[in-house]
Amino acid sequence: MRIVITGASSGLGEHLALHYASFENELVLLARRAERLEEVAQRCRARGGHVETVVADVNDFSLMHQIGKELAQTPIDRLILNAGISVGHSGSVTPFEDFYTLFKTNFLSVHAFLEPIIPSLMEQKSGEIVFVSSLASLITMPTSIAYSSSKRALNAYAEGLRYQLKPYGIEVMTILPGFIDSEMTQKNRFKMPFLLSSEAGVKRIVDAIARKKRYYPFPLRFYLMIRATLLLPQFLRDWIVNFTNFKKGA
Ligand SMILES: NC(=O)c1ccc[n+]([C@@H]2O[C@H](COP(=O)([O-])OP(=O)(O)OC[C@H]3O[C@@H](n4cnc5c(N)ncnc54)[C@H](OP(=O)(O)O)[C@@H]3O)[C@@H](O)[C@H]2O)c1
Repeated sequence: MRIVITGASSGLGEHLALHYASFENELVLLARRAERLEEVAQRCRARGGHVETVVADVNDFSLMHQIGKELAQTPIDRLILNAGISVGHSGSVTPFEDFYTLFKTNFLSVHAFLEPIIPSLMEQKSGEIVFVSSLASLITMPTSIAYSSSKRALNAYAEGLRYQLKPYGIEVMTILPGFIDSEMTQKNRFKMPFLLSSEAGVKRIVDAIARKKRYYPFPLRFYLMIRATLLLPQFLRDWIVNFTNFKKGA
């Protein structure tokens, strides 16, 4: 299987790469930090995987378009769009620059990359596209307006693409993790409910991909709490969100 993973130099992407590293799989790993990426690639090769690394900043849209075009020359079986960043804002107005960066990295870069790949997947009439979104896309805290918005945009994109590509036999999956221990969350200064290790998070993700789950939010208890909150009348929702935010120390 030929598997492309973006954001493979750390966290979920790194552990996904290690999971899929085997004699049967050919991996293409993409990220900015060349040394970190090469180190992950070496560990994957030690497990028998054939690995190619691509050092690129997903915010360079024309480069991503070019990389997508080149990768699409050979059939791709699974694409995991995992590269992403978060920025928290405690109390202050979200700077426009942060909004811009988060939308570029977490959302716009995805289509810059996929635009030249989608026609070849349609032609080959197979393939899987996996988007790594977030439970934070379902409910927006005042401290993560830009992050939640970018991931909600990603959900909308993934939903439309799923309908568009279904007739071609292409599976589109959206994974919505809760808090996972990674470089991204290590900088958080608040208590993260239901925090999972990267290994535990990746185990859930690979199981969901194997079962071709179109929409996979986890951990279930955290997801159900969010769903229950969303069913409440608006005034109660406001109260809960503000209370939770107050406890976060924002
Ligand atoms: N950790 C969580 O609690 C959590 C929860 C929900 C969703 N997620 C999502 O899961 C995904 C992976 O996050 P993580 O927790 O594993 O964090 P992480 O350890 O910080 O990993 C992020 C990965 O994305 C890559 N990346 C970031 N910006 C990039 C850019 N401009 N160009 C190319 N690559 C870039 C990073 O590589 P370089 O820095 O080397 O470029 C790194 O490999 C993200 O999309 C995140 O939003 C995480």
